[in-house]
Amino acid sequence: MSRVAYVNGTYQPHGQAVVHIEDRGFQFADGVYEVWSVFDGRLADFDGHMTRLVRSLTELRIEVPMTRGSLTQVLKETVRRNRVRDGIVYLQVTRGAARRDHPFPAEGTPPSVIVTSKSVSFAKAQAQAAKGVAVITQPDIRWGRCDIKTVGLLPNVLAKQAARDRGAYEAWMVDEMGLVTEGSSTNAWIVDKNGKLRTRDTQANILKGCTRTTLMALIAEHGLEVDERPFSVDDAKEAQEAFFTAAGAFVMPAISIDGVKIGNGKPGPIATRLRTEYLDKARRDAV
Ligand code: PDD
Repeated sequence: MSRVAYVNGTYQPHGQAVVHIEDRGFQFADGVYEVWSVFDGRLADFDGHMTRLVRSLTELRIEVPMTRGSLTQVLKETVRRNRVRDGIVYLQVTRGAARRDHPFPAEGTPPSVIVTSKSVSFAKAQAQAAKGVAVITQPDIRWGRCDIKTVGLLPNVLAKQAARDRGAYEAWMVDEMGLVTEGSSTNAWIVDKNGKLRTRDTQANILKGCTRTTLMALIAEHGLEVDERPFSVDDAKEAQEAFFTAAGAFVMPAISIDGVKIGNGKPGPIATRLRTEYLDKARRDAV
């Protein structure tokens, strides 16, 4: 089946869909994005991603390109046209196309909007989660506004590739104090050696993950506690469990960090349970 992309108002064959060479996303990484998980053709954590999108745009003073209703329709239509049951939908909004110059373009330059969607094998993801995955660490070399979901992802790309080069699934980034900030495209969690669930607070220079937010709510519903406090690489290596969260990855158990086995080297019971609970809730609440 041929894929379809939404580009600035029209649906086009994916292979031929293009933006202008002077699009500011291409020239300056001057744009933001969101990724929703799709379950049974419906979008998970819908409101969280939508709210964060508007926040990212507002922080960068990029015009919100269309009403929430229209944007919702475009996202759903792109999923529908691509016949995605399980997968993801990707949205990017940039400051538009204009003659290359660093300052913002003239008022009224329309933002560029593109949407793509693809199927992802849920069975494969489940098999990966059942086995658990390896994580490596990398220095966090990013800028100071990682709370904004910009398309400026070069440090994340390099960190992820370093993970792949070492046969790992994810790279956890580490600040100058030796504390884990977040994954290259995920939020990092541990069950520490005292059995406490820990993930870094979002006042720090990290992305406030929508999966993280939903999981926090679930954890509270179960009467469990999360200590929103940074942890070091050593804390993580000594932890009973480690895992990470993101759209597409959901809750993914990590079984080693830099080659050091976590716990008994198998996905831990808390991560495994949280994955199931998250998937149930996300699927139930998807729109
Ligand atoms: N990444 N931290 C970073 C740096 C991320 O890029 C992401 C998401 C997350 C998790 O956020 P959420 O739970 O809202 O997906 C945390 C997406 C999936 C990506 O870049 O493809």
